[in-house]
Amino acid sequence: MKLFVYNYRDFDEAEYFTRYSAEYGVELGFCKEAPSFENAELAKGYDAITIITSKMDEPLLKRFKNLGVMMVSTRTVGYDHIDLKAAEALGLMVSNATYSPHCVADYTVMLMLICIRKMKRIMERAAINDFTLPGMQGKELRNFTVGIIGTGKIGRTVLKDLSGFGCKLYAYDAFETDEVRQFAEYLPLEELYRRCDMLSLHLPLSAETRHLVNAEAIGRMKPGVILINTARGALVDSAALIDGLESGRIGAAGLDVIEHEFGLYYYDRKADVLDNRELSILRGFPNVVVTPHMAFYTDQAIDDMVRHSILSCVAREKGENDPWKIV
Ligand code: COI
Repeated sequence: MKLFVYNYRDFDEAEYFTRYSAEYGVELGFCKEAPSFENAELAKGYDAITIITSKMDEPLLKRFKNLGVMMVSTRTVGYDHIDLKAAEALGLMVSNATYSPHCVADYTVMLMLICIRKMKRIMERAAINDFTLPGMQGKELRNFTVGIIGTGKIGRTVLKDLSGFGCKLYAYDAFETDEVRQFAEYLPLEELYRRCDMLSLHLPLSAETRHLVNAEAIGRMKPGVILINTARGALVDSAALIDGLESGRIGAAGLDVIEHEFGLYYYDRKADVLDNRELSILRGFPNVVVTPHMAFYTDQAIDDMVRHSILSCVAREKGENDPWKIV
């Protein structure tokens, strides 16, 4: 089995690619760049490619298919960057890679605490030796009513973690589970918006969930609500979020993801004029913390991502059941 690795990071993935390729008998090829028309030829003669969040549209998928590639595995949980319909029509297999939900769950709770304890302001002030108290008073998490939107593995882990803080917990998902009912009461989305003073998004991005949090939804939320997003930027309409923050309808936001982040995150763009105005505006608010899609980034997650991506390709090659099969 020959697997070509795009977006290869030698500083953190090498150890796992070396270990698991030897363990599962896989021959690897590497490219540090994202897959593109320019570098697709490198994957000629390989059975599968493994990628991260780069856009895989119909023309690019077709290019790989024509080069003999049979499978695209993304070393990410989310797969909204891959045109699944096109992949299916082309007969290309697609899989994702699950990893420990604790990385994102821990980070979500951290963003919640950062928001309610005004940590951005505390750190900015302390960095210039302003050690004063006015304006820095925070709130206690146990006094919050928190709504978790999306109760897949990550949402469920956040709920479990929050249950230790003693806050009132509600949840929304189209598919309800008994595990969640141990910690939270399921509510329709409207009711969740009405009751919660903190909301955290844990849904996949799809045509149905794009801009779930728009001006109308924000208008139905509790005034001063705190919004946490560690899922996908496009779940939130950034323009509506900015309006909500300016009017005070949104009290604070913790955003590990943002719309149109592709091409920014994981690159050194410090010398560039960025073409993402929303990022600049949101970053400028004292009550908004923006981080560059790092919630997943732990040693455990990278181990899982590499291992599961390799295992998924190996399973398909052998015609065995692939737990990460998407298409
Ligand atoms: C995912 O796994 O879906 C993520 O969001 C992390 C990825 C950007 C590396």
